[in-house]
Amino acid sequence: MSTTSSSSSSSSTGATPLRQRASWQALREHHARIGERHLRDLFSEDPDRGERLVAEGAGLYLDYSKNRVSEETVGLLVALAEESGLRERTAAMFRGDRINVSENRSVLHVALRMPKGESLVVDGVDVVAEVHGVLDRMSAFAERIRSGEWRGHTGKPMRNVVNIGIGGSDLGPVMAYEALRHYSRRDMRFRFVSNVDSTDFAEATRELAAEETLFIVSSKTFTTLETMTNAQTAREWALAALGDESAIARHFVAVSTNAQEVSKFGIDTENMFGFWDWVGGRYSMDSAIGLSTMLAVGPGAFREMLAGFHEMDVHFRTAPLERNLPALMGLLAVWYGDFFGAQTAGVMPYSQYLKRFPAYLQQLTMESNGKHVTLDGRHADYQTGAVYWGEPGTNGQHSFYQLIHQGTKLIPLDLIGFGKTLNPIRDHHDLLMSNVFAQAEALAFGKTEQQVRAEGTPEAIVPHRVFEGNRPTNVILAEQLTPHALGALVALYEHSVFTQGVVWAIDSFDQWGVELGKVLAKRIIPELESATEPDLQHDTSTNALIRRYRRMR
Ligand code: F6P
Repeated sequence: MSTTSSSSSSSSTGATPLRQRASWQALREHHARIGERHLRDLFSEDPDRGERLVAEGAGLYLDYSKNRVSEETVGLLVALAEESGLRERTAAMFRGDRINVSENRSVLHVALRMPKGESLVVDGVDVVAEVHGVLDRMSAFAERIRSGEWRGHTGKPMRNVVNIGIGGSDLGPVMAYEALRHYSRRDMRFRFVSNVDSTDFAEATRELAAEETLFIVSSKTFTTLETMTNAQTAREWALAALGDESAIARHFVAVSTNAQEVSKFGIDTENMFGFWDWVGGRYSMDSAIGLSTMLAVGPGAFREMLAGFHEMDVHFRTAPLERNLPALMGLLAVWYGDFFGAQTAGVMPYSQYLKRFPAYLQQLTMESNGKHVTLDGRHADYQTGAVYWGEPGTNGQHSFYQLIHQGTKLIPLDLIGFGKTLNPIRDHHDLLMSNVFAQAEALAFGKTEQQVRAEGTPEAIVPHRVFEGNRPTNVILAEQLTPHALGALVALYEHSVFTQGVVWAIDSFDQWGVELGKVLAKRIIPELESATEPDLQHDTSTNALIRRYRRMR
């Protein structure tokens, strides 16, 4: 593929307000008819739906038949996507148009995984060639570290890698490291420091030898308070052990878009891996921000992960919407949020390796779609992004699934499972997967009063043992948790988030909502630290809290 961008922000913003779109009205009417229908009935009227309401792409299989939809619903949701301009907006994103309107930026994480030889020209620059230039430098560096050729200040190879970053500069790397641990170097230790709570740094470095430790300071802006504080602490920690400024060049590398700040910090820009303002933090785990992932699993596996991302990108761009995994998942999220009033969505990976996947998704989904202002500056008069959360199965079943099965809230779930385990031990994997299928079945079909009675349950207990069912799930299956499958899975959610944002006509790529707290914290720091009593000008609650803290500290 070779594409040239106009770099304008010409793409459609879905000009008709959402609730006035014809497809929205049609969905409202449809919801009035189908909204209360039970999955038991939908299945008994259409027994084959479990084989038809499925989609496949990039090695992932999605069964969405246990959703409160019919084929007509899917058609209407697809019509909503069309009317909202999903196709045009997707083309605009892949072209490099500045669809991040509030920051006037292109959104090109899809370029991070385009194969060598493809080309995408934005503002006269072939971004794919630039991406591969950085990937090649990362690969060469990773080989030097992994082979032991790169030596620390005292001549020892690096055995510990500590990534310092927060938000997108932490959650992707830590999630990917945990997810791909099976493929990682077992003779090296990987640690992730994100929180400005000193405990995070102290515990991560407690038993590490500085002479064998490489710090990766990961920050798109290189100005983030938490990361810069931790990076300074790391610098002092390393210098205290190694004693000499010249050690910094052997023990610190940076990943950033901000070369100026990197060199101000004292890291040679020779040891900096760059990326671009068109990569959002939460969309950056496959950029140089993934350096720790590459060090752990090697350049080959990292590129396999990129291939998985890319295959899902191609699927999203080309598959018909009714068979398009990210589009379907995004539209189902809109269906539950806006028509059923569902406030939250659960993501339950039945894989211990994916234990950080829900945390990663929280930033991806909520920082992207937690917006109430539309692209044209109006207050959205509909629900946007849901609260995402989750835990690996089966652990969640023994904690909060009670509420999902019998509580008063509708919580759509994604259940993610794999055909083969990477750790075959006895029949653990069959036990694990039986729970994926059983949970989806129980949530959909429940257990009726008659069934409970037929079991001889005492009458007073019957209502307690009834499962209403009609709780929707998506089941996502992949053959095995490989780097490729991980890439495809992440891209699936990225594009599902995009689909939702297009329908809601919001900017899924800015994050102004995180700014106010940062500004206020900066103002409060000197008030906490000043030797003399500060003249506090906040509200009475904030003033009292600050005074109490000053007495306690
Ligand atoms: O505060 C939110 C945020 O800006 C995220 O969007 C971002 O991933 C994170 O902070 C870290 O930013 P940086 O990589 O610039 O340090």
